[in-house]
Parts: sequence; C-alpha cells; structure tokens
Amino acid sequence: MNYQKILDEIAVEITTMPHEGTVADYIPELAKVDPDKFGIHLSTVRNEDFAIGDSEDKFSVQSISKVFSLAMAFSILGDKLWKRVGVEPSGNPFNSIVQLEYEDGIPRNPFVNAGALVIVDVLLSELENPEEDLFAFVKSLTASRQIGYNAVVAQSEKETGFLNAAFVNMMKAKGNIINQTDDILDFYYKQCSIELNCRELASAFLHFGENALSYSHAGFSLTKSQVKRLNALMLSCGFYDESGQFAFKVGLAGKSGVGGGIVAVYPEEFAVAVWSPKLNKKGNSVRGFHSLELLTTKTESSIF
Ligand code: DON
Repeated sequence: MNYQKILDEIAVEITTMPHEGTVADYIPELAKVDPDKFGIHLSTVRNEDFAIGDSEDKFSVQSISKVFSLAMAFSILGDKLWKRVGVEPSGNPFNSIVQLEYEDGIPRNPFVNAGALVIVDVLLSELENPEEDLFAFVKSLTASRQIGYNAVVAQSEKETGFLNAAFVNMMKAKGNIINQTDDILDFYYKQCSIELNCRELASAFLHFGENALSYSHAGFSLTKSQVKRLNALMLSCGFYDESGQFAFKVGLAGKSGVGGGIVAVYPEEFAVAVWSPKLNKKGNSVRGFHSLELLTTKTESSIF
C-alpha cells in the first residue's frame, strides 16, 4: 500500500474543499490556535511512517487524553471500573449534564466529560503519584522524551469550566466521587492540556492496534481482552453524539479532542493521527473527520 501517495492525495482534496467549522472558543486559550493548521501522521505495525503538513507541530490533545487515563484506570481496577462508569454511547454532547442526574451519578461512558472525571477520581485514589504516572505512561506509549502540558491552556479551562465543576459536584452528591472537587479538576485540566504532535499520537495509539500493551508501560499493562474493550469504547463513544457517523463513514475505532485532533486505529495494520483545529457542532475536527473518511475509502481499510 502506497500510504504516502494516498496522504498526498488527501491533502490536495482536503485543501480544495470549503474550510468549514470553528475553533473551540469555549476554552479561550484554544481559540488562539491557527485554524489553517493541518497535518497527518500514519504509523504502521511494520515501523513505517508517513506524514503530511503540520504533523510535527504540538497541539492540545484535549479529550484524546481520556484514552490514556482510562487505560491506566482499567489496568489498575480491571472490570470493577464498570461499577463507576458505564460503557454505552450517550447520544448526547460530551458536556451534557442531563443524563447524569437521572442515571444516579454514573456517567454513560469514560469519554463524556463526567466519565473522564470519574476516571481521574480513580487515579487520584489508587496512585501515590498520579500526575507523574500519567506523564510517564504517555512518555512510554509515545516513545518521546519530551512530554508536557500547556499550563496556560489548563488555567484557561479552569477559569471557564463551570460545567466540569458541576459534573464532579453532582457525582459527589450521588456518592460516585471520593476526592476533592478541585484536586480532580486540576488533574483533569492538566491531562486535557497535554500537547503532542500527530507522530507521537499515532505512535501511542499503535499500541492499541497491536498487542503491545501486554507489557508494562510505566507500570501499566492491559490484556488483549482489555485492549479489545478500549477499542470498542472508542468505536462506540469516541466521538460523542457523532460516534455513529464516525463508524458509518470511517469504520475505525478512534478518539477526538476539541484541540482539533483525531486518532484512529486499524488493528494489526496502522494508527493514524490528524490535526485540523476547526470543529463541527459536535466538537469534532471537520477536516480530520473528512481526511479519515478519505483514507479508509481509498485504502479500503476498515474494521467492517
Ligand atoms: O473539559 C473539556 O471540555 C475539554 N477539556 C475536553 C473536551 C473535549 O476535548 C471533547 N472532545 N471532543
């Protein structure tokens, strides 16, 4: 498969289409990003790498980071984790609070914000140095020496994240949060404001497409069956109320973030990361989504 030729074709097709969407301005710091940035990096299980555009620029991974923290919590608690958070698509936006009250403070899945905040609560309870462990885990998965978060973005989220505070407090009232609200939010915003480039993301997610989490990454490992469940959650919940569309149009397990990144996994073959900051109304990158649709159509590589 000539992946480089296909990525080059995608770049031409994408940049000749109308550039729709808006950057995530509900986090003021994210609104400052250049909306025209566009990059893709594809890594195969044979250690081949293919890239186009701004694939080496670091950007705010936002909700993509929820896969890392989920992998850690699942590695620690195993199936006990599912008592605290569900595994069903929500059919609602990532920051919707309606279901949380009538479903007794148990979030639908680990990728809606409420679910990711429960995962943070687990990490804070179970680990002595949760922050160091998160960064060590991400470092190990990406094989990068330099991994950090953007403190200005984290602060910007903290100042405007009223709904996130509401999720934690609602769940605390319902008995599904143990730690202090501020500690959970501080950790969550650091996690969301981790900055990676497309190459690092593709290399991290390649582990979900091979059986490569069975050995320890900074002390965390997952069985083949657990990796299957992570991929299933990415497929069914990774794009919030657009997860059905992603499965329908792209046909891969994946995860998006409001920084404009999308990562997708084609098991036993490749992981691919795309970055383009303009988002659609569901909070997913317009060009990212479209590029991946073109990729799986041109390569005929989908899990279905
Ligand atoms: O809490 C938030 O709203 C952001 N830190 C993360 C949201 C996000 O990336 C949703 N993804 N599409």
